[in-house]
Amino acid sequence: MATALIILAAGQGTRMNSDLPKVLHKVAGAPLLVHAMIAGASVAPERTIVVTGHGADAVAETARAQDPSVEIAHQGEQRGTGHAVAQALPLLDGFQGRVVVLFGDTPFIRPETLQSMLAAPSDVVVLGFEAADPNRYGRLIVHGGHLYGIVEWKDATEDQRIIRLCNSGVIAADAALLRRLVEGLDDRNASGEFYLTDIVAAARAEGLAAEVVTCPEAETLGVNTRADLAAAERAFQAAMRAEMMADGVTLVAPETVFFAHDTVVGRETVIGPNVVFGPGVTVESGAEILPFCHLEGCHISQGARVGPFARLRPGTELGGDVHVGNFVEIKNAILDEGVKVGHLSYLGDAHVGEHANIGAGTVTCNYDGVMKHRTEIGERAFIGSDTMLIAPVKVGARALTGSGSVITEDVPDDAVAIGRARQVVRPGLSAKLFEKFKATKAKRQKETE
Ligand code: UD1
Ligand code: CA
Repeated sequence: MATALIILAAGQGTRMNSDLPKVLHKVAGAPLLVHAMIAGASVAPERTIVVTGHGADAVAETARAQDPSVEIAHQGEQRGTGHAVAQALPLLDGFQGRVVVLFGDTPFIRPETLQSMLAAPSDVVVLGFEAADPNRYGRLIVHGGHLYGIVEWKDATEDQRIIRLCNSGVIAADAALLRRLVEGLDDRNASGEFYLTDIVAAARAEGLAAEVVTCPEAETLGVNTRADLAAAERAFQAAMRAEMMADGVTLVAPETVFFAHDTVVGRETVIGPNVVFGPGVTVESGAEILPFCHLEGCHISQGARVGPFARLRPGTELGGDVHVGNFVEIKNAILDEGVKVGHLSYLGDAHVGEHANIGAGTVTCNYDGVMKHRTEIGERAFIGSDTMLIAPVKVGARALTGSGSVITEDVPDDAVAIGRARQVVRPGLSAKLFEKFKATKAKRQKETE
């Protein structure tokens, strides 16, 4: 059966105390909304609608960047979750199948959980969980395996507040039914809002079936405050570290390694303490990431060794057995197999041929203040320490640059290029110079007395 997804993301998130819409705050390098979209995408929906409100343009832009086929419904005034769904439903006119409603601020729902909701036979299916601290969650009223209704905390009696089975917010129902039930909602409740949750009691009143599918509380973790955001990050990282280790990756000090939502690491790779992964990193098997590295948008091939204290920025591709050492920054550069860049260097907008050696302190001067330019370094070239490569520039295969050179012109294959002032030696001059310096110092002291 076809599935459509409605993701609610209109709320301001007042308690975040932020200018950024809540759903754009990030966990593991991706906005909460993107996590929700990834979770939703696992059921292969035919249609995905994101309901925007606060910060609508930015939220829509993020949604479209993640999935260009996403549709946007706008909720001008936040009058409740039921009202939000009502704004999306016109886009689903004529759609036949199941609709799953997700919240943009609930990032960790697992694909299996959504699958079991879709497999459940009832007309309305609600995802619930046993809350350690039920706090202000909506309470699920269940008797004999049937769900009778959802009572919001504000509207609940003392007896109902004792219930620990809570509403996650995820609800699935047939599209036509959902349309009818949402049309019938009213705002006569403690919040004066149109509650989506009221569709359960309405369905029951029609003699339809409603049921709860449950999942661990960790999955339904919603973000309302910055403390929640930090807790979500903690939970994500703990799960990701465990998964990495189970997949054969060594983490020397797991609690100090931070992954992005999309980090991929191959078996037998060893990751030292205090390594941070930004989005878009893939590491092949058998690589070694030494302590204190920051990696983002890069690919690291088999057997490569990176760090300690290396920074790989987007567009970096390291070939097999490449060695990148301490205090090296690389951006938008391809380093072919066996390249060594051991210390204190910057390579940006560059291609380095295989087995080239980049001496300490080498800098590709890629930016002229207006434009970026490329540097090409041929295979087995030897770049002397402290070489400044003024891009655009090419150094040929097996060529050598003298230490301290400023290379402004292309260097042919097999050539040596030296671009620095010639050294001058003046025997015996140092003693005279020091006498002169002492005299100057004495004179200054006298003047200040
Ligand atoms: C909601 C549920 C509650 C559940 C809890 C789980 C309702 C009435 N209550 O309460 O039963 O236990 O989530 O976290 O559904 N939103 C809009 N437009 C609106 C209002 C909300 O898009 O007009 C979006 C928010 O951006 C958010 C989501 O819907 O992503 C949930 O809204 P929120 O106000 O946080 O609902 P809760 O009061 O937490
Ligand atoms: Ca909430």
